Order: sequence, then C-alpha cells, then structure tokens
Amino acid sequence: MGQNPVHAAAVVGLQWGDEGKGKLVDLLAGKYRAVVRYNGGANAGHSVVVGGERYSLHLVPSGILSPSCEAVIGNGVVVDPLRLLEEIQTLKSRGVDTKRLVISDRAHVVMPYHKAEDAAREELLSTTTESGADDTTKKVISAIGTTKRGIGPAYADKINRSTAIRIGDLVRADVLRTKLDMICGLKNAILGAIVGEGFEPFDAEEITTQMIECGKELAPMIKDTAYLLDDLRKEGQPILFEGANATMLDVDHGTYPFVTSSNSSALGIGPGSGVPPQCIDQIIGVVKAYSTRVGGGPMPTELFDSIGDGIRERGREFGTTTGRPRRVGWLDLVAVKYSAMVSGATELCITLLDVLAGEPELKIATAYSIDGNTSERFIPDGHALEHAEPVLESMPGFSEDITAARTFDELPTNAKAYIHRIEEFVGVPVRTISVGPDREQTIMCDTPSHAVCTN
Ligand code: GDP
Ligand code: IMO
Ligand code: MG
Repeated sequence: MGQNPVHAAAVVGLQWGDEGKGKLVDLLAGKYRAVVRYNGGANAGHSVVVGGERYSLHLVPSGILSPSCEAVIGNGVVVDPLRLLEEIQTLKSRGVDTKRLVISDRAHVVMPYHKAEDAAREELLSTTTESGADDTTKKVISAIGTTKRGIGPAYADKINRSTAIRIGDLVRADVLRTKLDMICGLKNAILGAIVGEGFEPFDAEEITTQMIECGKELAPMIKDTAYLLDDLRKEGQPILFEGANATMLDVDHGTYPFVTSSNSSALGIGPGSGVPPQCIDQIIGVVKAYSTRVGGGPMPTELFDSIGDGIRERGREFGTTTGRPRRVGWLDLVAVKYSAMVSGATELCITLLDVLAGEPELKIATAYSIDGNTSERFIPDGHALEHAEPVLESMPGFSEDITAARTFDELPTNAKAYIHRIEEFVGVPVRTISVGPDREQTIMCDTPSHAVCTN
C-alpha cells in the first residue's frame, strides 16, 4: 500500500464474500474523502471492530466510522429504506455521526414485495426439489440460498424498468402513489400465484404511506452522486470504493446461477457509481487465508471434517447478515487467480491468517481435475464446477499465535512461505496481511515489490 492515497482505489472480495472487506475499508477510510458502495444491498454484512467495539454494516458504507469521510451509496446499490433507516438509527445511538451519508437518487428501492418474492421463490424451489425430484433435477434446478433481502427481485425490476422505484421517487408522492398502485396489483397477482393459499395481498396505499415517510427522512441525504464524485475528483480528493459481496458472486463472472444479482467484482464500479474505469488506479483484492461460502453452489475445496469445523469455530464463520454457518474449505487459488484477473487486482490483502494457526498442514488448490483432465483455469459456471476436484498442494502449517505480529518479519517462517506461495501463484503482490479483526491487527508490507515477502 503506498504512503499517499491514490485518486481512486477499490476494495473488492476475490472469493465468495466475507473476506474482511469491511475491516480493510475502515482501516483505509481515514485517507480518503469518500467511501462509496456501488453494488449489492442489505445482503452485505461488513463487520468493523474499532477499539474492541463491533459494528455490523449492511447498507451504510464502512467509511461512516471515519469522521472525515463522506459515505456514499451509489446508484448501483439496491436500498431497502426501512433497513437503511434502522441502520442509521443504530449507528446514531452508538454515537456515530451519520450526517455524512449520501444516497444516489438513482439507486433502486427494495420494496416489501421484493423480499416476499425472494423468500417465496426460494421456498418454492427448495420444496419442489426436495419432494420427488431426481438428483440431476435437484442439481440443475435448486434454490440459490439467498439472503432473502429482496436483492434479486429488486434488480430484476430495475432491468424491467416499468415496475421499478428509485430513491428519487420516494420524494415525489404523486408519482410514487401512481406507480405503486399499478405495481402492487401486478405483484399481488404474481405472488398470489406463487404462494397460493394464505397469501396476504400488499396494500398499495399502506406501502405508499410508509415509503413517503421514509422519503421524508432520507430527503436531506438524496443527491446526484455521480456529479458529487466528479466534483471530488476534480478537486483532487481521493475516493475509495467498497465492494459488496465478491467476485465469485458476480452475476456475469461468478459461479452462475449461484451468484448475487449485481456485478460484484470490480467491474461493477463504473456502472454502479458513474465513475469511469480509467479513474481507478488501485484495486485491492481481499483474500481470506482459506475459503468460505454461504448459501448454495459449488465450492471445490469444501471441508466436511473436523478441520473445517475447527476453522469455522476459530474464524467465527457465521454470517453477519443471516447468522448462517458459513461453509469452510481450503484456500482455492484457482478461483482467486481468476478473480484477480476479472477484478484487475493490483495488490492483495490476505485476511484471517491467524485463524490457520495450529493447523499442522495447510492445503491450497492450484488446479482442478475434471474427467481426468487437469487445468489451472477456473470454470465460471455453477453446474460445470460441481464436477471439479481440487488438486491440492500441501504446505507445512504454523502453531504460533500471530495476532500480535505487526511486521512481516514477525510472522513464523511457514506463515511467510504461505503468503509467498499465494503471491507467486496469483502473480499479484501481497501488500496487507490481517491477523485479527481489530484495526491495529494488521501488517502493512509497504515495500513496493515482492521483496518484503521473500523469506
Ligand atoms: P466482509 O463482508 O468482507 O466485510 O467480511 P465480514 O465482516 O462479513 O466477515 C469477516 C469476519 O472476520 C468479521 O467478523 C471480521 O471482524 C473478522 N475479521 C476480519 N479480519 C480478520 C482477521 O484478520 N482475523 C480474524 N480472526 N478475524 C477477522
Ligand atoms: P458480503 O458483502 C457472503 C450470497 C448469498 C447467496 C447468494 C445470493 O458480506 O461479503 P442474494 O441475497 O444476494 O440474492 O444471495 O450470494 N451472498 C453473500 N455471501 N457475503 C456476502 O456479502 C454476500 N452477499 C450475497 O449467501 O448464496
Ligand atoms: Mg460479510
């Protein structure tokens, strides 16, 4: 990481989410004038620990915890106004100044019927495949294991256009009422058919009143954030983008269909913020020292044994958003190398390295074997990837507690070798190593070359 902030940098997950992006963004935010979310919604759960105090951020950018930073929710985010207001309230009650929060007038709104549709579709797909479907059908048609935050249905309406509501609409009562009258009729017909008996139709008037109230509260924060970011750039102010979800969950480049509904790689920054791609000069790919995944879909290195259970317990691998236990596996460098390519990572940040302490042997996937053929190429297809067996390389582990290490040299030799192997395989330098959840528990490898990691 350079000493001076660059004009626009991004923090992006290179696995299946929960890599520790929130911690890194919080750590860097003080150097930036604005921290910008450009994708996803309340499906994200970013934990930040400051002085032993834990904050869970879902819609509000992690930069809110840095007093000099504007926290910007860009147009690419889908915003549940009820959850956002709740989150703002929680932050305020903990003494955080939320006046620096800005929301794009063009961000799309997650409505109550989106959450109902998300839950109904997941329920329908899981019960359909549980009862009577053969194994092939179960694999081909199955629930995604979404967070049920209404993300997919809200993005679908954005693409459908005529049934979408944007944040700017919340402060135009007449437009909102007319739109919601039409939309609720349509949603009730569709949802009634999916849910069947017991479905309680949505009341357009009730939702309109609720949303107008939200609009009133959010009004001072609603702005054209593309112009706001352009103004900051013209003033030479540094900007940090905070990726939500992760590259493996990108709707175009991840393990489709087991992905989220936005471009959650670095490729989503331009469309999700209005900042053109050539302005971003530093992309920090965040990589957990092992793999985790929440929800359905393939995960070639998944562990089903006591090693996986141990890592889950030590790493407190339970979802920030849904509380679900995360699936755990060895580090999959085939996936990470591909993600670094797609997201254009210029450097890596390795997180949760401390969690691996005590494992006598560490394994990393450096290729996949499919039908007897070995390949170093990732397969960005959720169904084809099911057939991939990881080719695992073994490395000696380390037993020392590393949570107090603050320089690369303080790490045990085997931990250094592990970092070095990641750099070598992915071909991108490791500039930051996280050895605990707190801001201070971080090693900055400031030397601008791999030299720092050659032991
Ligand atoms: P995000 O979604 O990428 O921001 O990650 P989450 O916050 O959902 O999950 C990461 C979890 O790991 C959180 O509980 C963090 O507090 C924690 N964490 C982050 N970095 C480290 C680390 O280096 N070591 C340990 N033990 N925990 C970490
Ligand atoms: P952060 O930002 C981990 C996963 C869900 C599910 C799939 C689709 O905290 O890293 P969705 O609700 O988006 O339609 O769910 O994507 N998912 C995440 N997993 N971390 C996240 O965010 C995630 N956001 C979505 O578990 O498998
Ligand atoms: Mg998370």
